[in-house]
Amino acid sequence: MEHFTPEVLISEEDIALRIDALAKAITEEFNGEEIIVICVLKGAFMFCSDLIKKIELPIKLEFMQLSSYGDGTTSSGNVKIEMDVTENLNGKNVLIVEDIVDTGLTLTTLLEMLKVRSPKSLKLASLLFKPSRNKHPVTIDYLGFEIEDKFVIGYGLDYAGRYRELPYVGVLNAGN
Ligand code: PRP
Repeated sequence: MEHFTPEVLISEEDIALRIDALAKAITEEFNGEEIIVICVLKGAFMFCSDLIKKIELPIKLEFMQLSSYGDGTTSSGNVKIEMDVTENLNGKNVLIVEDIVDTGLTLTTLLEMLKVRSPKSLKLASLLFKPSRNKHPVTIDYLGFEIEDKFVIGYGLDYAGRYRELPYVGVLNAGN
């Protein structure tokens, strides 16, 4: 059976410190107004859970699940909504929470899909961003960490469905 030992790339402590800073910036930006936080499943569940605990605003939590069939070179049309929010976004402050922006296909498409619902504001928080892989420029309003082009797992991110439960972001080293 395959055996991998995850190596820590971003520690639990560093994630917590960064989340404190992001939550503070979000709290200040919305100045007491209600926000609708959209957690994009599955990868963002842990980041979103920790982030909303630190945001000092009235929050409504929603979930979306998307599927992507693109190869990253073509734009929208390849990203499909598998599970949608239940809340009407018209006139609301909306904060999308993602685990990673890689090619940017998923988020550029999702932002387009949500803009037409006429939110009052539409912002994006992402724990990770891989600039070297980016093909579809997307503004990340609240970014945790820029990372190199490594296959990352843990803190919500998976490899073949596994490792999401790790409390840190790691990389896999085969054969250790
Ligand atoms: C990941 C991540 C983003 C997307 C980013 O989701 O959560 O949604 O890929 O990639 P992109 O910038 O190249 O579009 P994934 O498809 O792995 O689903 P999961 O969150 O359920 O694991």
